[in-house]
Amino acid sequence: MPELIVQGRHLQVSQGDNLLTALQGADLPINWSCRAGHCHSCLIQAPAESIPAAAQQGLSPAQQAEGWLLACQCSVEQDMHLTLHDPASDGLPAQIESLETLPGDIVRLRLAPQRPLRYRAGQHVTLWLSSRLGRSYSLASLPGDALLEFHIQVRDNGAFSHQLQQACVGQTLYLGAPGGHLCYDPAWHDRPLLLLASGTGLAPLQALARDALQSGHSGGINLWHWSAAKQGCYLQQPLTDLAASEPQLHLNLRQRADLDADLRSLRIRSRATLALVCGGAEFTEQVRRPLFMAGLAGPQVIDESFLARS
Ligand code: FES
Repeated sequence: MPELIVQGRHLQVSQGDNLLTALQGADLPINWSCRAGHCHSCLIQAPAESIPAAAQQGLSPAQQAEGWLLACQCSVEQDMHLTLHDPASDGLPAQIESLETLPGDIVRLRLAPQRPLRYRAGQHVTLWLSSRLGRSYSLASLPGDALLEFHIQVRDNGAFSHQLQQACVGQTLYLGAPGGHLCYDPAWHDRPLLLLASGTGLAPLQALARDALQSGHSGGINLWHWSAAKQGCYLQQPLTDLAASEPQLHLNLRQRADLDADLRSLRIRSRATLALVCGGAEFTEQVRRPLFMAGLAGPQVIDESFLARS
């Protein structure tokens, strides 16, 4: 039976057990958001020789060299000496510059990091409010912006979003390393882009659209957003202003109730179209089939979904 040694405790687990589940079962302070290897909030450190390759997929070369792994992607095959992630020493400190409520109970959070954060438009990071409370959120800002920006949906039972509402300007949060594949590739410059977002899935896709426009994208960008809020899209004005000055950008700001009908009427005008999708897991699942029926094969659809955790 393999043994996990962590925080002075020795835990016996069965061969092949999932590391995240085993640590949670022992009530150790390990964070998670997706359990699918996307959010990188379940990071933990171990000696290189005990880490299965699958548990480091998607991590940067620097993270891999430092022995970080994703607990949710690790099946325990041998003894492991583990060091828990400590946001205060392993993360990047960042001060809250502003907290603003946008339509639809969305908090716009702006942070000033202590050091510049290297990221690509559309990526996400884990935000830590304390050593036990971290969640993964997409960056709504672009790398050249002075501040980091996040759009955070306040949920009835959302521990992170509720605690964030109690936070104040000047308070320090900690950031994990950026990750995620929802980024603009300059090789797409003449391909039509179809961006489909629901809720705060708009944060990374509007950043990706702005990044593409700044890169001189010439293939057209069709940005759809479905909002559950009766006030409509929470970024309606800035996006409308942007579209007015960027002929490549076409906006479709819709209500969530229109989603089914909109997807049924979706027409793909070019075989070179790429679709990028972001929203809750239910949303990304819902758009997959209509995109396929409209003629987009699997590799032409890049999606990222987030799970709401209570
Ligand atoms: S919980 Fe492990 S990567 Fe998201």
